[in-house]
Amino acid sequence: MSPTAVRRIALNTGGGDAPGLNAVIRAVTLGALDREWEVLGIRDGYDGLFGEHSHGEGVMLLGRDDVRDITHMGGTMLGTTNRGNPFQVGRGPDVAQRLRELEIDVLVAVGGDGSLNIAHQISLEGIPTIGVPKTIDNDLEHTDLTTGFDSAVAFATECIDRLVSTTTAHGRVMVIEVMGRTAGWIALHAGIAAAAHAILIPEIPYDISVVADRVKERADRGQDFSIVVVAEGATPIGGTVTTVEGSSRLGGVAATIAAQLEELTGKEARSLSLGHLLRGGSPTAPDRLLGLRYGAEAVLAIEAGARNVMVALDGDVAKLVPLADIAGRARLVPPDCGALRTARSIGTCLGEPA
Ligand code: F6P
Repeated sequence: MSPTAVRRIALNTGGGDAPGLNAVIRAVTLGALDREWEVLGIRDGYDGLFGEHSHGEGVMLLGRDDVRDITHMGGTMLGTTNRGNPFQVGRGPDVAQRLRELEIDVLVAVGGDGSLNIAHQISLEGIPTIGVPKTIDNDLEHTDLTTGFDSAVAFATECIDRLVSTTTAHGRVMVIEVMGRTAGWIALHAGIAAAAHAILIPEIPYDISVVADRVKERADRGQDFSIVVVAEGATPIGGTVTTVEGSSRLGGVAATIAAQLEELTGKEARSLSLGHLLRGGSPTAPDRLLGLRYGAEAVLAIEAGARNVMVALDGDVAKLVPLADIAGRARLVPPDCGALRTARSIGTCLGEPA
């Protein structure tokens, strides 16, 4: 397709919401309208294409007024869903057919690896597609940053900071669980920023006795409180992930660790999970900028004639990555990354046996 042939694009947000999605929507819409392309927003992932949506019309033409004053807002004005991959219920070809009926020249799909996998499959059905990365987990391959990560880290850091005073006052151990699926990016960055004494991530299986020894050493030195940050996907050496009872959803590892530390150290321990709080609230300034940047890059990519790629960042340099290369892969914390080097250098316990 020649770039000049674009008349109408569609835009949707899929998977778990992340702060900064509205910034993407604004930049895509304004960039497209400037080029005299129409923008059709699809509600609730792809559900809106079939009239199934939680609020308003299933699809809506987006104008300047619709995207005014939304950059600072959390959530997504289009709604989202992380349930019901249309290809798993045999509806993938119907999605492509509906997009053809709506005369969509290019679909812009904003999502994490699950949603970008769906976008890839839609592209294979013949719909030209551009992916835009978002997820608080920061675990997308081939890009340095995803929209939402900075906001999640900033809020987790603030929460941990707040927990220090009460933990100190009581001389306790506090175990704080953060989201991130199989990657430890949020735990590692927030844990370092908030000066946690131990940080446990999925990439480094932990030995609970190593963590207990750190708590005891601190107590022996007169530091009778300890802060432990754990990623929801962290596992003990040789063990498995902790899931919410009766489901496959990650959750509960902090409570288990707190009980074990209480037993092993004799110190009172408490736990809490920050859970979906990390996905809520207003995006940080860096996430607003990142969302706007990714939205702008998506429009520039369409204009340049690129198709079936995800816009990505390598440092500050924008690049395009084939959607086929994204699907089904998670970008984990590499053993030699700067954050881990920092944690080790300042003596943070990572639960590793000596
Ligand atoms: O991928 C984003 C994320 O928030 C993960 O960190 C977490 O494991 C998952 O989504 C939670 O999903 P749900 O909203 O379905 O509970």
